[in-house]
Amino acid sequence: MTANPFRFAACIVLLLPSLVVSLPKSAIAQNATTPVAQLPADPVGEAFVAKLLRQMTLEEKIGQMSQTPLNQASEIPPDVLAREGKVGSFLFVTDPVTINHLQHVAVEQSRLHIPLLFGFDVIHGFRTLYPVPIAMAASWDPRLAEKAQSMAAREASAAGIDWAFAPMVDIARDPRWGRIMEGAGEDPFLGSKMAAAQVRGFQGDTIGSPGHILACVKHFAGYGAALGGRDYEESNISDDQLWNVYFPPFHAALNAGAGSLMSAYMDLNDVPATGNRFLLHDVLRDDWHFQGFVVSDWESVMNLTTHGFASGPADAAARAVNAGVDMEMTSTTFRDTLAQSVKRGTVQQATIDQAVHDLLMMKWRLGLFRNPYADPAKAASQMVTPEQRNAAREAGTRVAVLLRNQDATLPLNSALKSIALIGPLADSKADIMGSWSLAGHPEDSVTVLEGMRKRFGAEKIHYTTGVEIEREQPSIFDAQFSSPKPKLTTEAEKAAEFHHALDLIRSSDVAVLVLGELQSMSGERASRQSLDLPGKQEQLLEAAVATGKPVVLVLVNARPLNITWASEHVPAILEAWYPGTEGGDAIAQVLAGDVNPGGKLPVTWPRSVGQVPIYYAHNLTQLANDPSSHYWDGPSTPLYPFGYGLSYTQFSMTNLQLASDAVHAGSTVNVSVEVRNTGARLGDDVVQLYTHQRAGSASRPVRELKGFRRISLKAGEKQTVTLTLDTHDLGFWSPATHHWAMEPGVFDLWVGDDSNAQNHATLTLLP
Ligand code: BGC
Repeated sequence: MTANPFRFAACIVLLLPSLVVSLPKSAIAQNATTPVAQLPADPVGEAFVAKLLRQMTLEEKIGQMSQTPLNQASEIPPDVLAREGKVGSFLFVTDPVTINHLQHVAVEQSRLHIPLLFGFDVIHGFRTLYPVPIAMAASWDPRLAEKAQSMAAREASAAGIDWAFAPMVDIARDPRWGRIMEGAGEDPFLGSKMAAAQVRGFQGDTIGSPGHILACVKHFAGYGAALGGRDYEESNISDDQLWNVYFPPFHAALNAGAGSLMSAYMDLNDVPATGNRFLLHDVLRDDWHFQGFVVSDWESVMNLTTHGFASGPADAAARAVNAGVDMEMTSTTFRDTLAQSVKRGTVQQATIDQAVHDLLMMKWRLGLFRNPYADPAKAASQMVTPEQRNAAREAGTRVAVLLRNQDATLPLNSALKSIALIGPLADSKADIMGSWSLAGHPEDSVTVLEGMRKRFGAEKIHYTTGVEIEREQPSIFDAQFSSPKPKLTTEAEKAAEFHHALDLIRSSDVAVLVLGELQSMSGERASRQSLDLPGKQEQLLEAAVATGKPVVLVLVNARPLNITWASEHVPAILEAWYPGTEGGDAIAQVLAGDVNPGGKLPVTWPRSVGQVPIYYAHNLTQLANDPSSHYWDGPSTPLYPFGYGLSYTQFSMTNLQLASDAVHAGSTVNVSVEVRNTGARLGDDVVQLYTHQRAGSASRPVRELKGFRRISLKAGEKQTVTLTLDTHDLGFWSPATHHWAMEPGVFDLWVGDDSNAQNHATLTLLP
């Protein structure tokens, strides 16, 4: 008889204090501590892989567990690695001719003809860039994220890429951390929806679907909690926060069928994630029954030694494999030491066999044993097609978040005769794409200047940079992808340019300032101590406002920045993020009002860096009703709450109704609200449902997002929106009992269009 994975969990809940309800299977099956959906059984593949495994030498098995980058010199040439079965995967090759060549060597010249797996960072597009992930989260539209990743998969697979190192699902609550740009922001519920949607987009209906690629959910786990927002720094996360905040998006991605997972770089509670058996075995394999494979992050196996954890390469390799890493990215400790470790007995042969089984099964599921080749002749015609551009442009418009719009400054009136377009990011083809655009070609991009000229007429647009910005320390990615270098060298040249910008503003009807950060200022190794606009952008903004002309601030960036002064003095602020290849057209459409912005912040926006970390789902305190007491030198509230975003129209939400005000655990309850577009134009709003458990075995966050839906309403239109609250979403991993709990009692519910939602009701969860 096969073991029932639910039996153990069900027994546990029965032993818990009377406060805790015994959950029906349907409820247990969906929480973050239970097994994820299993991949379809494949007896033919299993038999094929079992036979192959019997033929393989130990060295060939270890070869499958090794991944080599092609963007740096390798000791052994790639052809030799492929021919001798010393490599299972390459990364950082995007040219279908090279990919095919290496694949031919592996399939035709290696002893067992095992195909290679080609992986790449397809983070927000391949050749066509879509808005960066934090921007996609701001759309609050998982279907949009699914579509974008499916379009990205189409281009990448045409080039011969089989495997995306995405989605990155790390919860990030610290805007100083550069990689906040790569995830869905601070919230586990929104993060889980975006994670699952991206997996579906990459993989299609099933692993191996034509035109799709394998997803790799990363970085397991807790990378976003890096101390001080410093990249790679240790994370210290309580079990409660791990299960309730950091794990759920991983669980959701695996539940959606993600076939691979990447271990993280940093120490999690003093144990490096890449050597962390609790993460990679106890949670991933024992609790979640994950059937895919685990790849380390770049050199993170060898770096178990730099953490002061492993004593040398052999110890690092053994500890990574014994923890649950199946493939080593870049460093070569597996290739160099694992065979000896098996002979010495520090690594079991069975552990190697299991890893290679999981890797080969994934190659089988991807169809690589049947057709491993790309079609270089066709590949070029698949890149940056009109269909890709349209999808990228639509995404660019849907992610924009309107933060302020005094006196209806936006949309820009078509009667305007002249628009001063100013800023270092207004005409940068590389920066509009955002970081992790390694296969992108800047010349494909549409800048804001180009988009504005096209939309408003070139004669109306008067452009200059005003100021230039530069990263103080170079980025590790500069050699592969970089922003244009500043052209102004002397102080006199800089001053003249600054004044030229102000002159243009004075002689125009309105000024649009495109400010923010270069793409290299966000992403990996791109953390900051300050959240101020880099360089002299703030001075330029303040001087622009001082001219008395109406000013629109367009932010091109991927983290909350210090715009506290602007939030009081600049009439209109639009967060455009890094919108991708079609960004300039998308921004122009939004500024013109062709598309009404409907994005909402996926992160809390602080007033100053001193408030960090600040997030909406914090616990109540000793002085719960007096949040103003947190600081004596400034407000405690954020500048903009999580979920916030305006529109060119207005909405009202009233008449909150619950289908029932008391329900049993495991059931669902419909929560409805009437939304009315009270303004004069079509627009989108996002209905958001938040809950709070009033009392229980542990303090629960003051509010937690548990449902949302983005809707479009015409001027004057009214719609009743019904969100279904799953009561298992009211459950949580209790630090008091160390198990999943669903506790009877009273819950507050709020519905509105940001995390300060005011429509209130209560729901009683019955035992
Ligand atoms: C990053 C990963 C990425 C890998 C390969 C690492 O430095 O942390 O997210 O997938 O490099 O580029």
